[in-house]
Amino acid sequence: MKILVVGSGGREHALIWAISASPLCDALYCAPGNAGIARHATCIPIAADDVDRLVDFAAEEGIDFVVVGPEAPLVLGLVDKLEARGIAAFGPGAAAAQLEGSKGFMKDLCVRAGVATAAYRRFTDAASAADYIRERGSPVVVKADGLAAGKGVVVANSTAEAMQAVDDMMVGRVFGPAGGAVVIEDRLVGEEVSFIALVDGKTALPLASSQDHKPVGDGDTGPNTGGMGAYSPAPVVTEALEAEIMAKVVEPLVATMAEMGHPFQGVLYAGLMITEDGPQLLEVNTRFGDPECQPLMMRLRSDLLPALIAARDGELKGFDLRWRDEAALCVVMASAGYPGSYEKGTEIKGLEKLDGLEDVVVFHAGTEMRDGKTHAIGGRVLGITALGKDVAAAQARAYAAVDMIDWPEGFCRRDIGWRAIARDA
Ligand code: AMP
Ligand code: GLY
Repeated sequence: MKILVVGSGGREHALIWAISASPLCDALYCAPGNAGIARHATCIPIAADDVDRLVDFAAEEGIDFVVVGPEAPLVLGLVDKLEARGIAAFGPGAAAAQLEGSKGFMKDLCVRAGVATAAYRRFTDAASAADYIRERGSPVVVKADGLAAGKGVVVANSTAEAMQAVDDMMVGRVFGPAGGAVVIEDRLVGEEVSFIALVDGKTALPLASSQDHKPVGDGDTGPNTGGMGAYSPAPVVTEALEAEIMAKVVEPLVATMAEMGHPFQGVLYAGLMITEDGPQLLEVNTRFGDPECQPLMMRLRSDLLPALIAARDGELKGFDLRWRDEAALCVVMASAGYPGSYEKGTEIKGLEKLDGLEDVVVFHAGTEMRDGKTHAIGGRVLGITALGKDVAAAQARAYAAVDMIDWPEGFCRRDIGWRAIARDA
């Protein structure tokens, strides 16, 4: 088969690393890819959200199967357009991708499906939103309705902060059109958990558990990022909790989407708060987590490609995925300054020293090759991922590899996995 993966991050590198090992894969392309991906796939210079050019390329090249990594092309209808041209694709169509593309849609779906979620209201004008914040009085969370690259959520500590967030989003348009509508919801307390499943329209197949670290600083402090590291398994997700999340969250969402005429096919990633009253849904992503995908792919024993094809074909029922017993952990290295502004084009040296390491894989995100040298061109740049007998062993191996990299303009957190290690101890 000829396969095209869309995207350019660490997630897409991990997917490509797994797919390139499949006996079903004869030719592998990535649009647009990065310096690390270029070692396994032919990179095509088409942006991930340039939907029409991607469809034309797939048709001209005779691509058999497309795997869409990021959310933006899903929301723009890439899968619908590919399927309309007779090209099979993994990921939800635009209607089902609204689960990630509109926070308000997701909240309304929870009500319809009977899924527990924080009490909320949707607003399209700033004055009514401000009235609601005043009337509610309690701590609230303000969310831009549309896609905002993971930044559109303000967990407000005061009424004034919530008002400011509404003003920034709806009047200042700091997230562009994504802030034209907002969701205001009650603030929940508890432990956060991620839950990722493959879905074929009717059936959901949970993946191994995983957990990311969103804040930029050690001890989970500082501003939120796309994710500074992740690990699998996540001991917080016990078998009992998995069963509860499947029965109370994932299955009702999948059934309700199908009832509404928008069957969900692809990755359903639920962000949950485990409260005293049980799991409550915070957010849905309609794609693999980045960097959660990196440790997951390192632990996956089964061939990934048949599972993605089964999801697309509605044949996940009875499908089985096998995982290594070892843990895997990914440390993200980012450009200094991220998630704020950072310098582009700094050189990364020493990566060749990691090539022969056992049970270590360096997944690339914002990298580019120039004159045989690797340069950092993004915020999140590398995901150093290692296997170990448990999370602590995987952590030690990942940081030993990080310390072999010579990149003064880069940084990473030094405590990825601390919650799991504390729990295991
Ligand atoms: P989201 O993109 O909706 O997951 O929000 C990003 C982060 O904001 C989450 O990972 C939580 O840490 C936090 N958050 C979102 N909604 C709530 C809520 N209702 N209560 C408390 N924290 C929240
Ligand atoms: N790591 C969180 C996300 O991919 O949204």
